Amino acid sequence: MAVSGDEFKQALQHWASGVAVVTAQSEKYGVQGMTVTAFSSVSINPPLILVCINESADTGDGIQESGHFAVNVLNSDQQEISNQFAGGSSQQQRFANTAWHLESPGVPVLDDSIMSLTCTVVNKIHAGTHFIIIGEVQSTLRRSGDPLLYYRSGYRKLLTD
Ligand SMILES: Cc1cc2nc3c(=O)[nH]c(=O)nc-3n(C[C@H](O)[C@H](O)[C@H](O)COP(=O)(O)O)c2cc1C
Repeated sequence: MAVSGDEFKQALQHWASGVAVVTAQSEKYGVQGMTVTAFSSVSINPPLILVCINESADTGDGIQESGHFAVNVLNSDQQEISNQFAGGSSQQQRFANTAWHLESPGVPVLDDSIMSLTCTVVNKIHAGTHFIIIGEVQSTLRRSGDPLLYYRSGYRKLLTD
């Protein structure tokens, strides 16, 4: 292998990003959510975004089952929520510890996030250990607040002047 896993991870730590929780609800798995930084816009017309989900993540099964998901961008005070949705708590606890509601067509949306997108899955590509899930945005919700950031393995806050 040209680049080792450690070298790859160390290089990618130089990429600063926001933090989002991807959520889904399905008959088989109930409400589920997981923290991601692998989120990007893809296209404006049609409005497409992508998230990269580890093939071992339970939430990926729920997204596959329902065909819908939401992306919730966390605010700067939601570090603990990010940790819970990254495996720190059971799915039940994750949703018990944060305010949320269902948006059409039945996707959980986190009330305190600064932006939520509800999406329909239009494509799913297997790449290495992950699935690239492409969603068409069906609705957007925007709220006030600063974003939580992630850089070099740690949470950061925006410096504003
Ligand atoms: C800051 C942060 C960013 C993360 N980003 C991703 C990501 O982009 N994709 C991913 O598959 N897992 C990511 N994870 C790990 C998942 O959140 C974690 O494995 C989660 O528990 C898997 O979901 P599950 O509980 O549904 O299995 C991230 C974790 C943290 C703390």
